[in-house]
Amino acid sequence: MTDPSPTPQHVPVMLRRCLDLLGPALALPGAVVVDATLGLGGHSEALLATFPSCRLIALDRDPAALDLAGKRLAPFGDRVTAVHAVYDELPQVLARLGVPRVQGVLFDLGVSSMQLDEADRGFAYAQDAPLDMRMDQSVGISAAEVLNTYPPGELVRILRSYGEEKFARKIVEAVVRERAREPFTTSARLVELIREALPQAAKRTGGNPAKRTFQALRIEVNGELPVLERAVPAAVGALAVGGRIAVLSYHSLEDRLVKQVLAAGAAHSAPPGLPVVPEQYQPRLKLLTRGAELPGEDEIAENRRAAPARLRAAERIREDVR
Ligand SMILES: C[S@@+](CC[C@H](N)C(=O)[O-])C[C@H]1O[C@@H](n2cnc3c(N)ncnc32)[C@H](O)[C@@H]1O
Repeated sequence: MTDPSPTPQHVPVMLRRCLDLLGPALALPGAVVVDATLGLGGHSEALLATFPSCRLIALDRDPAALDLAGKRLAPFGDRVTAVHAVYDELPQVLARLGVPRVQGVLFDLGVSSMQLDEADRGFAYAQDAPLDMRMDQSVGISAAEVLNTYPPGELVRILRSYGEEKFARKIVEAVVRERAREPFTTSARLVELIREALPQAAKRTGGNPAKRTFQALRIEVNGELPVLERAVPAAVGALAVGGRIAVLSYHSLEDRLVKQVLAAGAAHSAPPGLPVVPEQYQPRLKLLTRGAELPGEDEIAENRRAAPARLRAAERIREDVR
Protein backbone atom coordinates (compact mmCIF):
# COMPACT_ATOMS: atom_id res chain seq x y z
CA MET A 1 0.00 0.00 0.00
CA THR A 2 1.21 3.54 -0.71
CA ASP A 3 1.12 5.87 2.24
CA PRO A 4 -1.88 8.22 2.07
CA SER A 5 -1.01 11.84 2.94
CA PRO A 6 -3.98 13.71 4.40
CA THR A 7 -3.65 17.42 5.23
CA PRO A 8 -2.21 17.52 8.74
CA GLN A 9 -4.84 19.82 10.28
CA HIS A 10 -7.77 17.49 9.43
CA VAL A 11 -6.51 14.01 10.12
CA PRO A 12 -9.09 11.41 9.06
CA VAL A 13 -10.15 9.27 12.00
CA MET A 14 -8.82 5.64 12.22
CA LEU A 15 -7.69 6.01 8.63
CA ARG A 16 -5.28 3.09 8.42
CA ARG A 17 -7.80 0.70 9.97
CA CYS A 18 -10.57 1.86 7.60
CA LEU A 19 -8.27 1.24 4.63
CA ASP A 20 -7.31 -2.22 5.94
CA LEU A 21 -10.91 -3.21 6.55
CA LEU A 22 -12.20 -2.05 3.16
CA GLY A 23 -9.04 -2.93 1.23
CA PRO A 24 -9.63 -6.58 0.34
CA ALA A 25 -12.79 -5.59 -1.54
CA LEU A 26 -11.24 -2.65 -3.38
CA ALA A 27 -8.15 -4.07 -5.00
CA LEU A 28 -9.94 -5.56 -8.03
CA PRO A 29 -10.15 -3.56 -11.28
CA GLY A 30 -13.50 -1.80 -11.64
CA ALA A 31 -14.20 -1.69 -7.90
CA VAL A 32 -16.49 1.13 -6.76
CA VAL A 33 -16.33 2.56 -3.24
CA VAL A 34 -18.88 4.93 -1.73
CA ASP A 35 -17.81 7.55 0.80
CA ALA A 36 -21.22 8.38 2.26
CA THR A 37 -19.78 11.30 4.28
CA LEU A 38 -17.24 13.05 2.09
CA GLY A 39 -16.57 15.97 4.48
CA LEU A 40 -13.13 17.38 3.75
CA GLY A 41 -12.30 14.37 1.61
CA GLY A 42 -9.58 12.94 3.86
CA HIS A 43 -10.76 9.33 3.80
CA SER A 44 -11.73 9.64 0.13
CA GLU A 45 -8.33 10.92 -0.90
CA ALA A 46 -6.61 8.07 0.92
CA LEU A 47 -8.93 5.48 -0.65
CA LEU A 48 -8.21 6.82 -4.15
CA ALA A 49 -4.47 6.97 -3.54
CA THR A 50 -4.27 3.52 -1.95
CA PHE A 51 -6.47 1.65 -4.46
CA PRO A 52 -5.52 3.06 -7.87
CA SER A 53 -8.02 0.99 -9.87
CA CYS A 54 -10.93 2.00 -7.68
CA ARG A 55 -13.69 4.53 -8.54
CA LEU A 56 -15.23 6.70 -5.83
CA ILE A 57 -18.80 7.89 -5.41
CA ALA A 58 -18.89 10.48 -2.64
CA LEU A 59 -21.96 11.92 -0.92
CA ASP A 60 -22.43 14.88 1.38
CA ARG A 61 -25.51 16.85 2.34
CA ASP A 62 -23.38 19.97 2.90
CA PRO A 63 -22.75 21.87 -0.36
CA ALA A 64 -19.71 23.59 1.23
CA ALA A 65 -18.08 20.19 1.90
CA LEU A 66 -18.63 19.12 -1.72
CA ASP A 67 -17.04 22.32 -2.90
CA LEU A 68 -13.93 22.03 -0.73
CA ALA A 69 -13.41 18.29 -1.10
CA GLY A 70 -14.13 18.54 -4.84
CA LYS A 71 -11.04 20.75 -5.20
CA ARG A 72 -8.95 18.39 -3.09
CA LEU A 73 -9.95 15.38 -5.17
CA ALA A 74 -9.66 17.12 -8.56
CA PRO A 75 -6.28 15.43 -9.29
CA PHE A 76 -8.13 12.07 -9.42
CA GLY A 77 -10.21 13.30 -12.37
CA ASP A 78 -13.07 11.11 -13.54
CA ARG A 79 -12.41 8.45 -10.91
CA VAL A 80 -14.50 10.66 -8.59
CA THR A 81 -18.24 11.35 -8.72
CA ALA A 82 -19.37 13.72 -5.95
CA VAL A 83 -23.09 14.01 -5.30
CA HIS A 84 -25.09 16.39 -3.11
CA ALA A 85 -27.34 13.97 -1.24
CA VAL A 86 -28.40 12.80 2.19
CA TYR A 87 -26.89 9.36 2.66
CA ASP A 88 -30.19 7.51 2.96
CA GLU A 89 -30.67 8.46 -0.71
CA LEU A 90 -27.81 6.12 -1.67
CA PRO A 91 -30.03 3.64 -3.59
CA GLN A 92 -31.47 6.46 -5.75
CA VAL A 93 -28.01 7.96 -6.33
CA LEU A 94 -26.62 4.60 -7.46
CA ALA A 95 -29.64 3.97 -9.71
CA ARG A 96 -29.17 7.39 -11.32
CA LEU A 97 -25.49 6.66 -11.94
CA GLY A 98 -26.25 3.20 -13.33
CA VAL A 99 -24.17 1.46 -10.65
CA PRO A 100 -26.20 -1.49 -9.36
CA ARG A 101 -23.70 -2.77 -6.77
CA VAL A 102 -20.59 -1.42 -5.04
CA GLN A 103 -17.58 -3.04 -3.41
CA GLY A 104 -17.22 -0.73 -0.42
CA VAL A 105 -19.11 1.83 1.67
CA LEU A 106 -17.62 4.08 4.34
CA PHE A 107 -19.55 6.23 6.79
CA ASP A 108 -17.71 8.73 9.03
CA LEU A 109 -20.65 10.14 10.94
CA GLY A 110 -21.24 13.50 12.53
CA VAL A 111 -19.88 16.93 11.72
CA SER A 112 -16.65 17.83 9.96
CA SER A 113 -13.96 20.06 11.41
CA MET A 114 -14.83 22.58 8.69
CA GLN A 115 -18.43 22.77 9.93
CA LEU A 116 -17.21 23.21 13.51
CA ASP A 117 -14.60 25.79 12.55
CA GLU A 118 -16.93 28.07 10.58
CA ALA A 119 -18.54 30.12 13.29
CA ASP A 120 -21.53 31.27 11.23
CA ARG A 121 -22.76 27.67 10.80
CA GLY A 122 -23.67 27.74 14.51
CA PHE A 123 -22.28 24.29 15.46
CA ALA A 124 -19.68 25.57 17.90
CA TYR A 125 -20.53 26.63 21.45
CA ALA A 126 -17.21 28.43 21.89
CA GLN A 127 -18.13 31.39 19.64
CA ASP A 128 -21.23 33.55 19.48
CA ALA A 129 -23.01 32.80 16.19
CA PRO A 130 -26.52 32.34 14.76
CA LEU A 131 -28.01 29.13 16.18
CA ASP A 132 -28.37 27.26 12.89
CA MET A 133 -26.60 23.84 12.88
CA ARG A 134 -28.15 22.61 9.62
CA MET A 135 -25.64 20.65 7.53
CA ASP A 136 -27.62 21.79 4.49
CA GLN A 137 -28.89 25.31 5.13
CA SER A 138 -31.30 25.15 2.18
CA VAL A 139 -33.67 22.72 3.95
CA GLY A 140 -35.20 22.05 7.36
CA ILE A 141 -35.39 24.16 10.48
CA SER A 142 -32.58 25.74 12.48
CA ALA A 143 -31.52 25.00 16.06
CA ALA A 144 -33.02 28.36 17.07
CA GLU A 145 -36.43 27.29 15.73
CA VAL A 146 -36.21 23.99 17.62
CA LEU A 147 -35.35 25.81 20.82
CA ASN A 148 -38.02 28.49 20.37
CA THR A 149 -40.95 26.32 19.24
CA TYR A 150 -40.70 22.72 20.55
CA PRO A 151 -42.87 21.79 23.54
CA PRO A 152 -40.81 21.55 26.76
CA GLY A 153 -41.31 17.77 27.09
CA GLU A 154 -39.94 17.23 23.61
CA LEU A 155 -36.87 19.38 24.37
CA VAL A 156 -36.20 17.40 27.55
CA ARG A 157 -36.40 14.13 25.59
CA ILE A 158 -33.97 15.43 22.95
CA LEU A 159 -31.42 16.72 25.48
CA ARG A 160 -31.60 13.49 27.47
CA SER A 161 -31.41 10.98 24.66
CA TYR A 162 -29.26 12.77 22.07
CA GLY A 163 -27.08 14.70 24.54
CA GLU A 164 -27.12 12.33 27.52
CA GLU A 165 -27.67 15.52 29.53
CA LYS A 166 -28.51 14.71 33.15
CA PHE A 167 -29.77 18.22 33.82
CA ALA A 168 -32.08 18.33 30.79
CA ARG A 169 -35.12 19.36 32.80
CA LYS A 170 -33.31 22.22 34.54
CA ILE A 171 -31.92 23.52 31.24
CA VAL A 172 -35.29 23.29 29.48
CA GLU A 173 -37.06 25.10 32.32
CA ALA A 174 -34.59 27.95 31.89
CA VAL A 175 -34.94 27.89 28.07
CA VAL A 176 -38.73 28.06 28.26
CA ARG A 177 -38.58 31.01 30.69
CA GLU A 178 -36.09 32.86 28.51
CA ARG A 179 -37.75 32.21 25.16
CA ALA A 180 -41.02 33.67 26.49
CA ARG A 181 -39.10 36.87 27.16
CA GLU A 182 -37.28 36.89 23.83
CA PRO A 183 -36.73 34.12 21.23
CA PHE A 184 -33.19 32.70 20.93
CA THR A 185 -31.20 33.72 17.87
CA THR A 186 -27.53 33.23 18.73
CA SER A 187 -25.45 30.72 20.64
CA ALA A 188 -23.84 32.89 23.38
CA ARG A 189 -27.14 33.48 25.17
CA LEU A 190 -27.87 29.75 25.23
CA VAL A 191 -24.35 28.92 26.48
CA GLU A 192 -24.69 31.50 29.25
CA LEU A 193 -28.10 30.21 30.26
CA ILE A 194 -26.87 26.60 30.45
CA ARG A 195 -23.95 27.72 32.58
CA GLU A 196 -26.35 29.42 34.99
CA ALA A 197 -28.82 26.51 35.04
CA LEU A 198 -26.29 23.82 36.00
CA PRO A 199 -25.29 23.12 39.59
CA GLN A 200 -21.71 24.15 40.53
CA ALA A 201 -20.49 20.55 40.85
CA ALA A 202 -21.63 19.67 37.31
CA LYS A 203 -19.69 22.61 35.90
CA ARG A 204 -16.38 21.39 37.28
CA THR A 205 -16.28 18.24 35.14
CA GLY A 206 -16.86 17.23 31.53
CA GLY A 207 -15.62 20.29 29.59
CA ASN A 208 -17.95 23.03 28.36
CA PRO A 209 -21.36 22.57 30.01
CA ALA A 210 -23.09 23.50 26.72
CA LYS A 211 -21.45 20.67 24.78
CA ARG A 212 -24.16 18.06 25.38
CA THR A 213 -27.04 20.44 24.59
CA PHE A 214 -25.36 21.54 21.35
CA GLN A 215 -24.82 17.92 20.29
CA ALA A 216 -28.46 17.10 21.03
CA LEU A 217 -29.76 20.06 19.03
CA ARG A 218 -27.50 19.18 16.08
CA ILE A 219 -28.73 15.58 16.01
CA GLU A 220 -32.37 16.75 16.10
CA VAL A 221 -31.95 19.55 13.53
CA ASN A 222 -30.39 17.17 11.01
CA GLY A 223 -32.66 14.19 11.81
CA GLU A 224 -29.42 12.23 12.14
CA LEU A 225 -30.72 9.04 13.76
CA PRO A 226 -33.76 8.31 11.53
CA VAL A 227 -31.58 8.98 8.47
CA LEU A 228 -28.87 6.62 9.72
CA GLU A 229 -31.44 3.96 10.54
CA ARG A 230 -32.47 3.90 6.87
CA ALA A 231 -29.00 4.43 5.45
CA VAL A 232 -27.03 1.52 6.94
CA PRO A 233 -29.45 -1.18 5.68
CA ALA A 234 -29.54 0.60 2.31
CA ALA A 235 -25.74 0.53 2.15
CA VAL A 236 -25.62 -3.17 3.05
CA GLY A 237 -28.21 -3.78 0.33
CA ALA A 238 -26.00 -2.00 -2.21
CA LEU A 239 -22.95 -4.18 -1.51
CA ALA A 240 -21.94 -6.85 -4.00
CA VAL A 241 -21.03 -10.21 -2.49
CA GLY A 242 -17.48 -9.74 -1.14
CA GLY A 243 -18.16 -6.01 -0.67
CA ARG A 244 -17.41 -4.37 2.67
CA ILE A 245 -18.94 -1.67 4.86
CA ALA A 246 -17.18 0.32 7.59
CA VAL A 247 -18.89 2.79 9.91
CA LEU A 248 -17.28 5.28 12.30
CA SER A 249 -19.72 6.52 14.96
CA TYR A 250 -19.18 9.15 17.63
CA HIS A 251 -22.24 8.69 19.82
CA SER A 252 -23.64 5.67 21.64
CA LEU A 253 -27.03 5.93 19.89
CA GLU A 254 -25.38 5.94 16.45
CA ASP A 255 -23.14 3.04 17.41
CA ARG A 256 -26.09 1.05 18.75
CA LEU A 257 -28.00 1.50 15.48
CA VAL A 258 -25.01 0.38 13.43
CA LYS A 259 -24.38 -2.59 15.72
CA GLN A 260 -28.01 -3.72 15.44
CA VAL A 261 -28.07 -3.61 11.63
CA LEU A 262 -24.74 -5.40 11.23
CA ALA A 263 -25.52 -7.99 13.93
CA ALA A 264 -28.94 -8.73 12.38
CA GLY A 265 -27.28 -9.23 8.98
CA ALA A 266 -24.71 -11.58 10.49
CA ALA A 267 -27.31 -13.76 12.21
CA HIS A 268 -29.51 -16.33 10.46
CA SER A 269 -33.19 -15.49 10.25
CA ALA A 270 -34.63 -19.02 10.32
CA PRO A 271 -37.65 -19.73 12.49
CA PRO A 272 -36.57 -21.53 15.69
CA GLY A 273 -36.44 -25.33 15.71
CA LEU A 274 -35.24 -26.05 12.16
CA PRO A 275 -32.60 -28.80 12.24
CA VAL A 276 -30.71 -27.26 9.29
CA VAL A 277 -30.82 -23.55 8.35
CA PRO A 278 -32.01 -23.34 4.71
CA GLU A 279 -30.05 -21.12 2.30
CA GLN A 280 -32.65 -18.33 2.26
CA TYR A 281 -32.26 -17.83 6.01
CA GLN A 282 -28.45 -17.88 6.09
CA PRO A 283 -26.70 -14.68 7.22
CA ARG A 284 -25.78 -12.24 4.48
CA LEU A 285 -23.02 -10.50 6.45
CA LYS A 286 -19.84 -11.57 8.22
CA LEU A 287 -18.65 -9.22 10.97
CA LEU A 288 -15.08 -8.00 10.47
CA THR A 289 -14.70 -6.27 13.84
CA ARG A 290 -15.12 -7.90 17.25
CA GLY A 291 -17.45 -5.45 18.95
CA ALA A 292 -16.55 -1.87 18.15
CA GLU A 293 -12.89 -1.00 17.57
CA LEU A 294 -11.53 2.11 19.30
CA PRO A 295 -8.78 4.53 18.28
CA GLY A 296 -5.40 4.04 19.93
CA GLU A 297 -4.07 6.36 22.62
CA ASP A 298 -1.54 7.84 20.21
CA GLU A 299 -4.25 8.81 17.75
CA ILE A 300 -6.37 10.39 20.50
CA ALA A 301 -3.36 12.34 21.74
CA GLU A 302 -2.85 13.75 18.24
CA ASN A 303 -6.50 14.24 17.32
CA ARG A 304 -9.06 14.91 20.06
CA ARG A 305 -11.92 14.41 17.61
CA ALA A 306 -11.00 10.74 17.37
CA ALA A 307 -11.59 10.12 21.10
CA PRO A 308 -15.25 9.01 20.99
CA ALA A 309 -14.89 7.06 17.70
CA ARG A 310 -16.27 3.51 17.41
CA LEU A 311 -15.53 1.54 14.25
CA ARG A 312 -17.58 -1.42 13.03
CA ALA A 313 -17.25 -3.27 9.74
CA ALA A 314 -18.76 -6.23 7.91
CA GLU A 315 -18.49 -8.13 4.63
CA ARG A 316 -21.40 -9.10 2.41
CA ILE A 317 -21.17 -12.88 2.01
CA ARG A 318 -24.46 -13.82 0.37
CA GLU A 319 -27.13 -12.50 -1.99
CA ASP A 320 -30.68 -12.16 -0.71
CA VAL A 321 -32.46 -15.30 -1.79
CA ARG A 322 -35.94 -14.23 -0.69
C1 LIG B 1 -17.01 13.68 10.02
S1 LIG B 1 -17.29 14.45 8.50
C2 LIG B 1 -16.45 13.41 7.35
C3 LIG B 1 -14.99 13.68 7.29
C4 LIG B 1 -14.29 12.90 6.19
N1 LIG B 1 -14.30 11.48 6.44
C5 LIG B 1 -12.87 13.39 6.00
O1 LIG B 1 -11.93 12.57 6.13
O2 LIG B 1 -12.67 14.57 5.70
C6 LIG B 1 -18.96 14.06 8.18
C7 LIG B 1 -19.52 14.67 6.93
O3 LIG B 1 -20.72 13.97 6.65
C8 LIG B 1 -21.72 14.85 6.25
N2 LIG B 1 -22.99 14.27 6.64
C9 LIG B 1 -23.46 14.10 7.89
N3 LIG B 1 -24.66 13.50 7.85
C10 LIG B 1 -24.93 13.29 6.54
C11 LIG B 1 -26.03 12.70 5.85
N4 LIG B 1 -27.09 12.23 6.53
N5 LIG B 1 -25.98 12.62 4.51
C12 LIG B 1 -24.89 13.08 3.83
N6 LIG B 1 -23.84 13.66 4.42
C13 LIG B 1 -23.85 13.76 5.76
C14 LIG B 1 -21.42 16.15 6.96
O4 LIG B 1 -21.95 17.24 6.24
C15 LIG B 1 -19.89 16.14 7.02
O5 LIG B 1 -19.36 16.85 5.94
